[in-house]
Amino acid sequence: MTAPLILHDVTAGYHGKAIVHGVSLDIPAGGALTVIGPNGSGKSTLLKSVVGLVPLMSGRQQLGGREIGALDAPARTRLGLAYVPQERNVFPNLSVADNLRLGWEALHGRGDRAKATQRRDAVLELFPEIADRLATPAGLLSGGQRQMAAMAAALMQNPSLLVLDEPSAGLSPRNASLLFDRIADIRKTGITLLMIEQNVRLGLRVADHGVVLVNGEIRLRASAPHLLHEADLPALFFGHALPT
Ligand SMILES: Nc1ncnc2c1ncn2[C@@H]1O[C@H](COP(=O)(O)OP(=O)(O)OP(=O)(O)O)[C@@H](O)[C@H]1O
Ligand SMILES: [Mg+2]
Repeated sequence: MTAPLILHDVTAGYHGKAIVHGVSLDIPAGGALTVIGPNGSGKSTLLKSVVGLVPLMSGRQQLGGREIGALDAPARTRLGLAYVPQERNVFPNLSVADNLRLGWEALHGRGDRAKATQRRDAVLELFPEIADRLATPAGLLSGGQRQMAAMAAALMQNPSLLVLDEPSAGLSPRNASLLFDRIADIRKTGITLLMIEQNVRLGLRVADHGVVLVNGEIRLRASAPHLLHEADLPALFFGHALPT
């Protein structure tokens, strides 16, 4: 499954205070966009507003041609949106298998075990690193494996849009690189991808486009190769010296 995501003039924040200001972007079906920017610039808030966890104060959000701005998070899940948050994205005391099962049940309930097993087999093909760790409590996995388990649980929903908040956070360069190989594999399944990534090179390597978010506003939008090869990445990351 796949679906385009369109944000138009999105303003969102907490307790009536806007953190994200007038953000517009679109990702075609099967496309991938990476959001970069300094700490506290509102990246997670933007993603949470897409997911339905932070209320939309103004603007529009469309997934697969449907207006989703007024929908809560479970309704967005039912329309094909899956989200892996920046923190606490697995149940650490539950096995990998149970984490995957809960990913399935979040959308499908407890019925249809055969389909759940079929889906699990398909998901685990993408993640050989955790396929033989099914009985392990997710909290005992390595950091990289834990991120894979979190993504695998999200993919159990067979989403059309996958939203990832800093998947490489806390990982060694090697594990981060391995994780992004898996994200590249996920892309090949045709899913639409919206992610935040502090490791700019990794995040842009698997994306078509990138946006730089500074103080809750899009400072720059460009193709990923352009951002990777032509721009001054440290300056981009810290939001300095950018055309406005
Ligand atoms: N639950 C909340 N209630 C009130 N303010 C919040 C809440 N969560 C975040 N904020 C504020 O929103 C601003 C943006 O935070 P956000 O987490 O979106 O930034 P970020 O770009 O994801 O940062 P990081 O790179 O550190 O993850 C910060 O000033 C933060 O204090
Ligand atoms: Mg964040």
